[in-house]
Amino acid sequence: MNIELATVIPAAAVVVVPVLKARAAELALRAVAAANHKLVNAALEGARFDGDPGSLVELVLPDGEAVQRLVILGIGEGQEGELERAAGALVGRYLVSGHTALAVDWSGVASMLSAAGVARFAAAAVQRGWRYDVYRTTLSERQRPTLATVTMVGTPDGTAAEWAHRDAVTQGLLFTRALVTEPANILYPESFVERCSGLAELGVTLTALDDAAMRELGMGALLGVAQGSVRGARLLAMHWDGRGDGGNPDLALVGKGVTFDTGGISIKPAAGMEDMKWDMGGAGAVAGAMRALALRKARANVIGVVGLVENMPDGNAQRPGDVVTSMSGQTIEVINTDAEGRLVLCDVLTWVQRNYRPGTIVDLATLTGAMIVSLGHEHGGLFANDDSLADQLLAAGKATGDLLWRFPLGDAYNKLLDSPIADMKNVGPRGAGSITAAQFIQRFVDPGVRWAHLDIAGMVWADKPGATHDKGATGYGVRLLDRFVADHFER
Ligand code: BES
Ligand code: MN
Ligand code: ZN
Repeated sequence: MNIELATVIPAAAVVVVPVLKARAAELALRAVAAANHKLVNAALEGARFDGDPGSLVELVLPDGEAVQRLVILGIGEGQEGELERAAGALVGRYLVSGHTALAVDWSGVASMLSAAGVARFAAAAVQRGWRYDVYRTTLSERQRPTLATVTMVGTPDGTAAEWAHRDAVTQGLLFTRALVTEPANILYPESFVERCSGLAELGVTLTALDDAAMRELGMGALLGVAQGSVRGARLLAMHWDGRGDGGNPDLALVGKGVTFDTGGISIKPAAGMEDMKWDMGGAGAVAGAMRALALRKARANVIGVVGLVENMPDGNAQRPGDVVTSMSGQTIEVINTDAEGRLVLCDVLTWVQRNYRPGTIVDLATLTGAMIVSLGHEHGGLFANDDSLADQLLAAGKATGDLLWRFPLGDAYNKLLDSPIADMKNVGPRGAGSITAAQFIQRFVDPGVRWAHLDIAGMVWADKPGATHDKGATGYGVRLLDRFVADHFER
């Protein structure tokens, strides 16, 4: 779906008039001739319309009005998040309605809104309108999306510049969603790398390692996970040096990219296992964030690195009890082959620290089911070794709607990973499963490095539509990371 910023309302578009809660009726009436005020009032009253964000009333106006179809759309107090919800409701209603064009007339409220808020409305409209129908060959005409364009007129000054930024972020986010949505027979380590090859044209430097290269480097933890799969493993680094100074990146984004997680020999139950195609959601978010940064030419030096493997049971798969040696030299007793994400992340962390010495690392991973038990689908879990870093990420989450909630770390949790045969086990006891997973990762963070781990297991996939997404892949993390970079790594 396209957004157009224009000065006149295109003919034949359904016209949308956003109204503020406090002045809902007054603003709605302004859009029609006095002769029809009674009709509009009756419609608003009949719908108990009061301008709540996302509430809408549709009107078909008599001949003589400038427009035939009018939508009165509530935007609450006009805050960014409310505008986002309004856009989501609007597009949710019109996506498969048969209508192809909406025109939003902001002129009545522009002076009371920020350009950033209106641009966020546009971004939410595109995000909510995204679907992945490539494998649906028998959709009837009535099931197909029809809405192709949302034109915005009378927007506040500065909307175009704000929209340019959010357009780039939205393209990154939709890239993430496509990766997350693809089934594992289509998206596996090698094809994930292939899908990211377009980043090179945007100025991103790509480096990919295959199994042989990783064996050479001693990545025994990552390769132990991959060895049960016929698919080769990959490590993909995406370096965006938006300042062009050629130095090391200030920030590394690290993603878990398990393209399918059967659990391995510690195999998962059949029910719901198909969900594990999105066990690469962390890697997807990192790739989408790198795309967003490159598209908007962010003046920041950032590297994204993803560890890509498939976790399968096989005659050659690793066994519970196996001891593997990570690239860091630390040894790991693999108690549970289903705790594979941390085994992938630890070697990626070592690799990026040895090669690029980033001062800050943020990793994203669909790491533990326990995180969904803790936070459901409302917040991602945040773990950090640095309070200011944690606060920066929490703030970026609040600002973008990709919410986070911080969890504790500590020695008592760390001890739970001690092993009688190796330096550590890959799982702790039943309790605090998300925290011990984070403690495991922390064992691979070099001294002095600011590090945060985002466990996004509950956020990557949605069983019901939200303000900015349909059912399915959400693109969680892309807006968060973009904002985090914009606020703290650009100069
Ligand atoms: N990918 C899963 C975590 C997950 C589960 C994400 C459900 C999203 C939905 C991860 O690899 C895993 O299997 N974790 C185990 C860890 C356990 C063996 C300590 C889990 O959460 O059960
Ligand atoms: Mn697993
Ligand atoms: Zn997993």
